[in-house]
Amino acid sequence: MTGKASASSLDRQQILTALGRHWNPTAALMMAATERQVESHAHGSEVFGEDGSCSLDFAGSYGVFLVGHQNDAVREAVLHELERAPAIPPGATHPAMAELFSLLLEILPPGLDRFTLGCSGAEVSEAALRAAYLARPGRHRIVIVAGGYHGKTLGALTVLGQEEHRRDFLPGGSDLVVVPPGDAASVRRAVSSRDVAAVFVEPVLGGAYLRVPPADFLPEVSRACAETDTLLVADEIQTGFGRTGRMFAVEHFGVVPDIILLSKALTGGFVPVAVAAMTHEVASAARRSPQWHPGVLEGTTPSALSMAAATATIREVRRLGLPERAERVGAALRDGLRAAVRKHPRHLVDAPGIGMMTGLRTRNPAVENLISMQMSARGIHLGHSLNEQMDQPVLRFYPPLTVRSEQIQRVLQALDESLQWLDRRPAWLMRRITWLLRRQYQLPPPLVLKLMHSNLKVNW
Ligand SMILES: Cc1ncc(COP(=O)(O)O)c(C=O)c1O
Repeated sequence: MTGKASASSLDRQQILTALGRHWNPTAALMMAATERQVESHAHGSEVFGEDGSCSLDFAGSYGVFLVGHQNDAVREAVLHELERAPAIPPGATHPAMAELFSLLLEILPPGLDRFTLGCSGAEVSEAALRAAYLARPGRHRIVIVAGGYHGKTLGALTVLGQEEHRRDFLPGGSDLVVVPPGDAASVRRAVSSRDVAAVFVEPVLGGAYLRVPPADFLPEVSRACAETDTLLVADEIQTGFGRTGRMFAVEHFGVVPDIILLSKALTGGFVPVAVAAMTHEVASAARRSPQWHPGVLEGTTPSALSMAAATATIREVRRLGLPERAERVGAALRDGLRAAVRKHPRHLVDAPGIGMMTGLRTRNPAVENLISMQMSARGIHLGHSLNEQMDQPVLRFYPPLTVRSEQIQRVLQALDESLQWLDRRPAWLMRRITWLLRRQYQLPPPLVLKLMHSNLKVNW
């Protein structure tokens, strides 16, 4: 067990005031409204408050804490590197990167053997876009799936004032084709014009949608891409490293993409890092572009610390057999969630998911919020969809893959109690709460706190 962090000298009100004033007033208000404790330390699936409380983390930062909080082996590797040479100075030869690459080669689908590094998922999504534009010159359309998420930073390139860096990628602005989830025929139609550089997919659509596609979707998309020389980019930022019951979700469908994106779980939550792995064909086609130069796909900050964390995390995933565990233990979680759906059809639609990428599709955003709050009050943190505009958002259950069976039982028990509590609320209240939720960002902050029975003050 790790050393407990020393208690903060700031109380909850002071912390939220600082966050509200100097960072994000809306996020601070939401934190104030949910009345969670100030976190002190965490280990495995458990998060401890400064008041000594212990909660179960079934949100896992949407997939980051796959090997559990403060995984001992990863922490050791990080501390070891910290004492050696945590940064890789430009021009230095350091073994950390090569070690990570050789491990990635052992676990990735065959042929994905060229790597680009970044610090966030969005950064490597952009690297994949740049690689696609370079490797398929003259093609400026990109196909994406409605509801897909690949990060938020493309704006950086769109607004870049240095024309020489921008013109090759966004000559007339990006040209997106949005297809419905699971609809391979639409992808085929879009790529048949042979002006699409790449199709971006999450093999299992995450976010508030959580959709496993029909079995023939990805194979058919892959065929359509191969026939038209279009690149297939699989974003495994949420699904990678065992979350779905396979090391990578594409394995469920027998598909090998041209580019695969990895981040989130990759470093066990210690240091953010991301990788775009691509085939030799993509990398060499990009190299042949007149616009190619050695730094075109990445930034300047590879860190030995993050490489060491990633290497140790992958070793842990394999040592603990986490993909198999996700499949086996995840089945118990999914069975429990499905039983809840059968018992509470008034509130729940279904329990989608695969492996330990699971969730509850709720009848409306009020149900999602109220279950989330009730569970939080019972010491269980779930992955809220953060989308009150959706009609039937999915409340996500993404525990670390190291979660123990009795912890899953505790969560299912708390869920049953929360749903029983919900059963006692009248239908008009749900409609009123949905109405309020959809306007929550327009409501005066003190009113939000009053409605949530919070005793904190908004003084930012
Ligand atoms: C599937 C997927 N792709 C990309 C991203 C973006 O990653 P980041 O937040 O590190 O930029 C996320 C983040 O949630 C994601 O879930």
